[in-house]
Amino acid sequence: MSFVSEKMKIVKPSGIRELFSKAQGVKNVISLGIGTPDIKAPIELKEALRQAVSNDHNSYSQTSGEEGLREAIATKYKQDYGVDYSSSDGVIVTCGGCELIYIALQTYINQGDEVLLQNPSFLTYLRQISLTGGKPIWMPSDENLEIDIEKMKNLITDKSKAIILNFPSNPTGTVMKKEKLQAIVDLAVDHNLLIISDEVYEYIVFDDHKHVHVGSLNGAYERTITVNSFSKTFCIPGWRMGYGVSSPELLKHILVYHSFVVANATTPTQVALAQYMNTPESKNFIEKTRMEFQKRRNILAEGLNSLAGINCLKPEGSLYCYPNISETKYPNDIDFSQKIFEETQVVLVPGTEFGPSGTTNVRASFGSADKSTLKEVVDRLSKVL
Ligand SMILES: Cc1ncc(COP(=O)(O)O)c(C=O)c1O
Repeated sequence: MSFVSEKMKIVKPSGIRELFSKAQGVKNVISLGIGTPDIKAPIELKEALRQAVSNDHNSYSQTSGEEGLREAIATKYKQDYGVDYSSSDGVIVTCGGCELIYIALQTYINQGDEVLLQNPSFLTYLRQISLTGGKPIWMPSDENLEIDIEKMKNLITDKSKAIILNFPSNPTGTVMKKEKLQAIVDLAVDHNLLIISDEVYEYIVFDDHKHVHVGSLNGAYERTITVNSFSKTFCIPGWRMGYGVSSPELLKHILVYHSFVVANATTPTQVALAQYMNTPESKNFIEKTRMEFQKRRNILAEGLNSLAGINCLKPEGSLYCYPNISETKYPNDIDFSQKIFEETQVVLVPGTEFGPSGTTNVRASFGSADKSTLKEVVDRLSKVL
């Protein structure tokens, strides 16, 4: 007899984690599978955490988060984007960005509601939409891997409830420009759609590209829940610290959900982050990591493009290359990943993990492979392609 609920039967486990376990123990394996940054967390932040524990910040915090951290987050948004969020009721601290996406969808999506997401997208969205009973609607991408706005228009129906945006994007590395994002927000206003804007890679943006905070666009504030995270910014994914900003009206319902699921994000980590965030040291850390990721991006994207049959748009941000492999000898994403793993011991993620359009692509993360490892990857691939 199976005790599993109906909703769990349609939620497939993440293929990335499967790949990750398959690769463990294999000799000479290089994994570009998972999006974890391998750079060590800042020393000042680690020291602040030690002190927070020693100073007995070990109890529950307020449900929405430690006051000091909420104030620091509100200050960050004012400084970075000129947007005012209320530290008392416009900020929430969560157990990773993933928790916030989950509780936002659970709070606002009813059975049968349609939720628009880009094809391809961060794989968690699809599963989390399914867990609400909502219906995922894939929005096609154009040749630059941006949302195709004309095609998106035709997908809006009277059942459409929300749209998920994610720039800089996982898996494509795209950073959408202000005018295009404003056009999407205008459509959301016209059709009364909620916007969930996942901006966890906001600081990992390359060359002259600029991250646009969707909440700063005309008409966005009262309908947008911004998801953010310390995982990538300070290279602490294991701390499980995320946060969000929104209007008090939208956030107050999400807060109730949060209170019954986790009560609060861990307290000592919040105290440490409140102390570290917005300091000159934290800004230096962000810039240093951004520069390192940019160098890695250059090596991987240029290396991939030098290989027969591979076409890779240069990622504008995030930690991922999303090359098209349809002109190689293994033109399908799953075959490509499997054969490349068998022949070179390099782990790449099949594009279909991120959406049905991914049959022609794979995702390669440069988050946790240093520059010489990335050169080695290109070298190994060049021998078989
Ligand atoms: C686009 C995107 N959003 C959210 C997350 C989740 O981050 P967190 O560690 O804060 O849960 C990730 C993690 O890879 C991601 O790629």
